[in-house]
Amino acid sequence: MPLSATSDRGSPLSKAKGTFGFRCIGCGALAPDAAQDFRCPQCKNLLEITDSSWKSSNLPAATLKSIWHARRSSNELLDLSGVWRFRELLPAPESADFVISLREGNTPLYQLPQSSRLTGVSRLYAKHQGMNPTGSFKDAGMTVAATFARQAGYHWVACASTGNTSASMAAYAARGGMRSLVLVPEGKISWSKLSQALDYGALTCQLRTDFDGCLRLLQELVQRAPVYQLNSINPFRIEGQKTLAIELLEQLDWHPPDHIIVPGGNLGNSSAIGKALLEMLDLRLIPHLPKLSVIQTEGANALVRTLREAGGKHLVNVQPETRATAIRIGNPASWEKTVRVIQATGGACEEVSEVEMAQAKAEIGAEGIGCEPASAVTLAGLKKLLRQGFVKPEETVVLVLTGNLLKDPDFTMEFHRGELFRDTVNERDNAALKPLRHPPVVLDATLEAVIQTLERADKADPTQANV
Ligand code: F0G
Repeated sequence: MPLSATSDRGSPLSKAKGTFGFRCIGCGALAPDAAQDFRCPQCKNLLEITDSSWKSSNLPAATLKSIWHARRSSNELLDLSGVWRFRELLPAPESADFVISLREGNTPLYQLPQSSRLTGVSRLYAKHQGMNPTGSFKDAGMTVAATFARQAGYHWVACASTGNTSASMAAYAARGGMRSLVLVPEGKISWSKLSQALDYGALTCQLRTDFDGCLRLLQELVQRAPVYQLNSINPFRIEGQKTLAIELLEQLDWHPPDHIIVPGGNLGNSSAIGKALLEMLDLRLIPHLPKLSVIQTEGANALVRTLREAGGKHLVNVQPETRATAIRIGNPASWEKTVRVIQATGGACEEVSEVEMAQAKAEIGAEGIGCEPASAVTLAGLKKLLRQGFVKPEETVVLVLTGNLLKDPDFTMEFHRGELFRDTVNERDNAALKPLRHPPVVLDATLEAVIQTLERADKADPTQANV
């Protein structure tokens, strides 16, 4: 695949090399390089990437929009990626040869007609990041961070994960000729995600701890061994994940929605979306900011409590427990970045119950789209924000669906079999979910048995056929 590009689409890596640097989000110190732990050497806070070429004085918005649009008809590797297509707003590697791409991004923006009817929000969309190559939003960040790992000459890359990061990292490492080390909490991630890491050849360690314990250990490991960490502490991940928001705005013809609602775990994704929104405003790509809201489950609500109990000034840790294993995190690394973007955009932070999440997941499934449990907190959260009057039915709302339905088949099967909340405090509420359940039916292999079952189903819910 050729990597050169014609002039109307800009050069493959059209910026001057080395224009980006690192800024500490705490003390504001600037540095051309980052240490292994991606923390400020002075105050130990997280770093973010800045680039002087991203200022509006350098890049006219109309030019950028037309370059990005033109690239959609190109067959060149960088243009086929829904991340690198927006490379003017990304840190540039030294050469396009370092880029590891699986054609990530390019994810659909769906309307949600049934959920619109349920909620009364007529302009309700889902930006489905589960349609990425490894089935989650992580790929958008991984293509950038893995590229820089390769450029830096690393043999090993590593991450702590609740499953999706590890699947994504393992895939990009494999494509880029690097080895990958995965640290996951034993028994607390979906087999589907774990199996991806195995197939992509990762050295996979199931540690007897939770995600936060895995991440702590990784921080120590990177100080001792020459491994490159690919968690979202790595600011290159954040840069790639910005493109979710850029692509979304392009899909909305650059008319900002009123609200973007995203699940919150380790809080890298919300930080990335917020950073992109602020940069797009600065570049005049958009006239005003959407409100960015973050939703967690009641059992893993560190950010909710940080904002409510500490006014966003310090982190309130929790002991996380939720069936949405992707966001079973009690000590989110990027909490401070997310607090800032929620405040800058005027967004909200809410929590939803396990039952509300399960219901919303089934409703998104009934749209013919589906998502994994963590993603469904967005629809459940929207309902809550509507009840509070924070979101109004006449506003435009985008839910970010972060992972594919196939990521957690156990949850889906248990839901439809009515087993999800068995022997838990939620057992009583479970009855309310019955109309959404479609358990498989075991029958004798006769035509009569199938026809009877069909007729019974048609009588039980005659409206379903025309939905
Ligand atoms: N949704 C899904 C499906 C996820 O996998 C994650 C995080 C989130 C939401 C939360 O995003 O951490 O940026 O706030 N998964 C990480 C992992 C932690 O290891 O796969 P976040």
